[in-house]
Amino acid sequence: MGKLDNHVALVTGASRGIGKAVAMALATEGAHVVLVARSAFQLDSTSKEIEGKGLSASAEVADITIPVQVEKAINETASRFGRLDILVNNAGMGHFKPAIDMTLDEFDEMWNLNMRGVFVATKVALPHMIKAGRGTIVNISSLAGKNSFKGGTGYCATKWALRGFASSLMLEVREHNIRVITIFPGSVDTSFSSMNKKGKNITQPEDVADAVVFAVTAPERSMFSEIDVRPTNP
Ligand SMILES: NC(=O)c1ccc[n+]([C@@H]2O[C@H](COP(=O)([O-])OP(=O)(O)OC[C@H]3O[C@@H](n4cnc5c(N)ncnc54)[C@H](OP(=O)(O)O)[C@@H]3O)[C@@H](O)[C@H]2O)c1
Repeated sequence: MGKLDNHVALVTGASRGIGKAVAMALATEGAHVVLVARSAFQLDSTSKEIEGKGLSASAEVADITIPVQVEKAINETASRFGRLDILVNNAGMGHFKPAIDMTLDEFDEMWNLNMRGVFVATKVALPHMIKAGRGTIVNISSLAGKNSFKGGTGYCATKWALRGFASSLMLEVREHNIRVITIFPGSVDTSFSSMNKKGKNITQPEDVADAVVFAVTAPERSMFSEIDVRPTNP
């Protein structure tokens, strides 16, 4: 018996990296996991990898920066399974350069995925959760959403904005028994950027996934609203 048997979770950016590890971990606890990303090929291969372990997963191709695609992925999931228990807003990207060198297109690309996309996905998921009288929204932010660094003007701005969005949302929806959990990883060993550190002393995607599972499987009366996950000795 898994702690998430009969639950349905949708994870954005689930084809690789942190999203893939989160999807695998939620499926291991018994959830059916809907994987969302743009690359159909990579999504399919991740979905098959999860199913190959005897777990339950399916794939929905969608670009999180395109609202109609987000609506379709979430609404189809809710109508196909009759429920949406967990939304993990994980898809994100970064351009790391000084503001003076950053193009408006680069800024918009980060904003549209890291913040606007989270807003759209959350807005589409909420009516399903409110109708059910329960639900959990997990946002993968970053310690760049609490700290500042040179070259972070765009990325930090999106992740700080996400923290403001998430903590306000938490206050708005808790009366519907909906939990809003935001995870703030430091460097994680993925292909995210040449900036993020890699190696055995660096937090692995599975470590972030453990934090997500810990928070999501806590008694529904309790909410770990913010969790930092950082390398001990990078
Ligand atoms: N790695 C780190 O050091 C680190 C640290 C702190 C926070 N984070 C945050 O953790 C999250 C995941 O990062 P990661 O390291 O796992 O990155 P990653 O390895 O680059 O994976 C990104 C995932 O997002 C998907 N994606 C990208 N653009 C998308 C779009 N427009 N629509 C839908 N899916 C999209 C990618 O698939 P497709 O390209 O096929 O769409 C992929 O599945 C991000 O929010 C990131 O900001 C990462």
